[in-house]
This record gives sequence, C-alpha cells and structure tokens, in this order.
Amino acid sequence: MQVHVSNDAPTSVATGALVVPIFAGGTVDGVAAEVDKVLGGTLADIVASGEIGGKANETSLVHAKDSSFKRVLAVGLGEREKLTLSSLAKYAGTAVRYLGKRGVTTIAIALPAGVDAALAASFIAEGAVAATVDTTMYRTEADKPVVTTDVTILAGSYDRSAVENGVSRGSVLGEAVNAARRMALTPANDMTPTHIAARAKELGKDAGLEVDVLDEERMHSMGMGSLLGVSRGSDEPATLSVMTYKGDPSSNETIALVGKGLTFDSGGISIKPAENMHEMKYDMSGGAGVIAAMWAIGKLRPKLNVIGLVPSSENLPGPRAMKPGDILRAMNGKTIEVINTDAEGRLILADALCYARELGATKIIDAATLTGACVIALGHAASGAMSNDDAFVERFLKTVADIGERYWRLPLYPDYDQQIKSDIADLKNTGGRPAGAETAGTFLKNFVADTPWIHLDVAGTAYLDSESSYMAKGPTGTPVRAFVTMVEALAGDGMLTNGKVGKAASATV
Ligand code: BES
Ligand code: MN
Ligand code: ZN
Repeated sequence: MQVHVSNDAPTSVATGALVVPIFAGGTVDGVAAEVDKVLGGTLADIVASGEIGGKANETSLVHAKDSSFKRVLAVGLGEREKLTLSSLAKYAGTAVRYLGKRGVTTIAIALPAGVDAALAASFIAEGAVAATVDTTMYRTEADKPVVTTDVTILAGSYDRSAVENGVSRGSVLGEAVNAARRMALTPANDMTPTHIAARAKELGKDAGLEVDVLDEERMHSMGMGSLLGVSRGSDEPATLSVMTYKGDPSSNETIALVGKGLTFDSGGISIKPAENMHEMKYDMSGGAGVIAAMWAIGKLRPKLNVIGLVPSSENLPGPRAMKPGDILRAMNGKTIEVINTDAEGRLILADALCYARELGATKIIDAATLTGACVIALGHAASGAMSNDDAFVERFLKTVADIGERYWRLPLYPDYDQQIKSDIADLKNTGGRPAGAETAGTFLKNFVADTPWIHLDVAGTAYLDSESSYMAKGPTGTPVRAFVTMVEALAGDGMLTNGKVGKAASATV
C-alpha cells in the first residue's frame, strides 16, 4: 500500500472516501465541520441522532453524491483531552479495514487539530499499513480482502515535510509489523529454521544489512550445547541468524535484539496436550520480530550499532530428542539439567545471549513467547518486561508507553535463583509453577552476565484469537514497534525519545 501526503483542502480531495475524526461528546468541529458544509449538515444530524458518539473506533458512513470525495467515514477518536498517539494508529486502522473490506481502494485521512504533525502522521501511516495485512494467504479465494491501495494523509495547515517524515517512518514500521505477522502466520511446514534464516537473509539484504547464518556445525564448534539440545529431536537442523547494522561505526556501543525462533513447539518428550498445539507455530514470533525490526532499522538508519540474533529450532519428540534429566552445557560453560523439555525457549535463548555478548553487545533486549505463566499473570493485555538493570528498563518502559504495545514490569527477585538451582548441575530449566515467568527470566539472566538486559515475555501478546476494528486476528507484530522505537531512542534521533517528543517534532499530542 502507498501512503501519500497532500495539501489539498479536505473538501476538494478526489478520493473513494474521506475519513474525518469525531471526538467523544459528539460535536462536529474542525475538519469534520468543514466537510459537513459540503454534506449539508448530514454529519451533525448523525451525531445529533446518537448514531455516532465519538467513542474510540466507532464508525459511521455517509455517501456524498456530488462531491470530489465519494464517501465520508466518520471515525470516533475518544475524548479529545486523552488523545494518544496509539489511538491515531487505531483511528487509521479502523478506517482502512472498514472501507477496504467494502471495495474502497483510495482513502484520504484528515489529521485532527492540535497534534504533533510528524508523530501523528507516523502513527496514522503505521496503523493504515498494518490494517492491510492479508491473513488469508493460504485460501484459494481470499475471504474479505482489504482492497485499499492508496492512503492520502491530508496535511492541512501542518508543516508538509514534518508530515512526510512521519509518513516515511510510519510506513516502514507498518510494513515491518506486517512482515513479522506474515512470518508468524506461515505454518511450521513452510517456516522451518532454514526458512527463518532465509527470511533473515532476504530482508537483511533488502535493508542493506550483513547477515551471517550459523549452521549446527558452527554452533557445535562454539559450544552451543543448549540450543543444539533442543534441535536434537527434529530432522530440521537449527539455525542461528545474525543480522548486523552499523549505524555508528565510531562507537563501541552495540545493542543486541534477540528473539526466540521456535518454529514449532510440540513440547518435545514432555509433550503438550493436543488442544491448541497448532498455535505453537507462533512460537517464533519473537524471532520474526527481530528480523522485521532489523529490516526497519536498516531502512530508517538510526545512528547506533544494532545486531539482531535469531536462534531457531523445532522442539519435537524423536529418537534422538533430549530427555528429561539430560544435562546440557551452554556456550558460557554453565550446565543445565533439563527437567521439562517443554521449557525449550530459554535453552535456545541461552546460547544466543552468550553469543550476543561475544559479538560485542553492550545492551541486550530479548523477546520470546516464553511462558504460559506470563499469560496467566497479564492475560493478553500486556507483555512482561524483566531486567537486571533498573535504569535501562525504566527508560524502556517510558519510551514504549504509547506505541500500541503494552509492557508491564515483572520482578527478578534473588529468591527465584533458588528455584532454578539444580541438585547436580548449575541450573535446571524449570522452577516449578510459582512465578513461572519470573523464573524463566531468572534463567536467562544467567547468560547475560553484567550486560544491561531486558527480557520481554510476549506469550500473551504476540497473537490474539479475536479481531478488532483496526487489526485482523492472529499475529499482532509485537514486539516490532518496541524494538524499533527503543533503538531510535537509544540512538537519540528518534521521533519518540524517553516518551517525549524528540528532534523531529515540535509539540506534543
Ligand atoms: N512456547 C511455550 C510458552 C507459551 C505458552 C507461549 C502459551 C504461548 C502460549 C514455552 O515453550 C513453554 O512451553 N513453556 C512452558 C514452560 C514450563 C514447562 C516451565 C509453559 O509455560 O508451560
Ligand atoms: Mn515449550
Ligand atoms: Zn516454546
């Protein structure tokens, strides 16, 4: 999909549908009022009748016969005083999904009054692009495809170049979100560890990154016994993809993004129940997030060195599979007693975290669909964020506070160290039912040494089984937005820095 910027007056724009905001309380003002003059007061009538009250993501469609725009879609934006950036992405996403499913190919979206132009345009572009994802790619006949191909953002009296900057960033981010979602949607028979590596190479090349893929032989020579332990049960060989972006060659700082790329998690010998096991094709969502975020970072070119690491494997029961009681040795020499072969994510991440440090990472953020316990703790409302560094994680939480992905900190108390102590090895891979998300985080902590690190458990947020007005059901693209936004903030040249507006913008929303 193409996102353009136009200075045309809303009332003279030629488009299939013009999208205008209605705030809660239901007064037709600003762009909506201008457009309503052409409509002869129809919007005011609709609001007065209570058909739309301005609640977030409400919609009401009006046909406009004798004007340059064929329709007007009023979309609720909620309370004006509480307007957030992420609500603008939803505003655009709601419009594109509503109209795109009804055959409308071109849409013009008005920016509401009083927003930061660049940021608002970025979120609107991202929401519009993310709304176009086709989740029915395996159907011989697509269900209700979103047919919209062109979205024009009406800059009005805002600074055109600010709006254009926002649109470029938002389009890249939206495309990255969709790339991650398509990877996650692709079933395990078409998305093996080898396919993951091929996508890393393909997207890396497109964004001008270096990509190195380690095969099992190289993993073996580097002592990655923990990752190799997981892949033993499968005929598909494990891969470890490393994507490198050098945005600041004179600096020694390198941030590593690490993502769990488990292409199918059956549980292994500690096999999972059949119910919902098919969802475990999504167990590579963290890895897909890293690959897509690295692509976006290559396109956006922040001034910072970033490496992306995606350890990838299947977890299957097989004649050579690791067994409960087996002891594995990770790259840093630590020995791990495998209590439950279904706690495999932490095993593949352990070696990838060690390798990130070996490659010079000075800060690490990992993302993984790691524990059912995190879903029990936070539901699908937020991802868990755990860290060995208060300042780093607090900065992260501020930076990502309004990006459309929620993160909530969970503790890594020293108490949890006891829970994962093994009787015969250094560590065991499960700590029992209490604090399951936190003991998994504590396990990972053993492989980052003193490097500032944040662990994101996205088990409850990487995919959803319900759709919304602005998002198809299935994979959500979490954690792509957080990865990209945090990297921009660390580079100091992002639109959003420390939750505040950075240099590319002039005022807050
Ligand atoms: N991939 C799963 C975690 C998961 C569960 C993701 C539900 C998404 C939805 C992970 O590998 C796993 O199986 N974790 C176990 C750990 C346990 C054996 C300690 C779990 O959460 O049950
Ligand atoms: Mn598992
Ligand atoms: Zn898993």
